[in-house]
Amino acid sequence: MSASADWRGDGPDEGTGDRLQKVLARAGFGSRRVCDDMIAAGRVEVNGEVAQLGRRVDPEVDHIRVDGVDVSIRPGLVYYLLNKPAGMVSTASDPEGRPTVISAVPSEPRVHSVGRLDAATEGLLVLTNDGDLTFRLTHPRYGVEKEYLAELATRPRPAALRALREGVELEDGMTAPARVSQVGDVGLRIVIHEGRNRQVRRMCDAVGHPVVRLARIRIGPLADRRLSPGEWRSLTADEIRALEEAAARLAPPGATRAERRAGERRAAERGKANPDGR
Ligand code: URA
Repeated sequence: MSASADWRGDGPDEGTGDRLQKVLARAGFGSRRVCDDMIAAGRVEVNGEVAQLGRRVDPEVDHIRVDGVDVSIRPGLVYYLLNKPAGMVSTASDPEGRPTVISAVPSEPRVHSVGRLDAATEGLLVLTNDGDLTFRLTHPRYGVEKEYLAELATRPRPAALRALREGVELEDGMTAPARVSQVGDVGLRIVIHEGRNRQVRRMCDAVGHPVVRLARIRIGPLADRRLSPGEWRSLTADEIRALEEAAARLAPPGATRAERRAGERRAAERGKANPDGR
């Protein structure tokens, strides 16, 4: 049976549920024909086994991987990209009554933010109800790259730039080396992959150059210069896939389903009120 014959619906039909190529096409892997070719080439696994043409899957239950990368196919998952304005908090509620990132996006289904930005920091934030992906993107040791633009109070000294690049001693330990370049007179472009509390501000403080304005302009593969402060949009299927790929590149070898399930629970917890003022 050829791949295209199966795509037209006359191939072998294994089990119940949706056809695998249809599910993959919905998840952004290309047309059903392209997805069929991927299956035929042995690039797709279902529950740890290479999938055959004609395979059907239950998106609620089955675990699908393409080229070794998890695919988010569960129905009901939503992914938003918000450009958080300064003054909005990343927690679900705020004792001071400031607007929250949760109130900036649709209230149903309930979502949580993937990591946090300080109230004073602007820029990109992902919100989702996909706890599994959240866990993999925010794993403390394997966080995805984040890029910031910082405006400093004063022009950075060369020694300060060197220190930021090599790692800075903070009260919670040394930072990992950062990619840092100067932008104009008092601007810095800084790329880090850790996600410590107020990390960029504390790093800049530590080298004697306090930040006066901070914006996150990229999260792994996600950037959007057209999204105005306060605006949000849904991620495209391609963007979700790129995030999955970034997370897969970062995942520690042992971070398998049990660890991810624990992450889901933690992420669900994060969706509840956490009035820490950020
Ligand atoms: N670093 C900071 O200092 N603040 C943020 O919000 C994010 C990174």
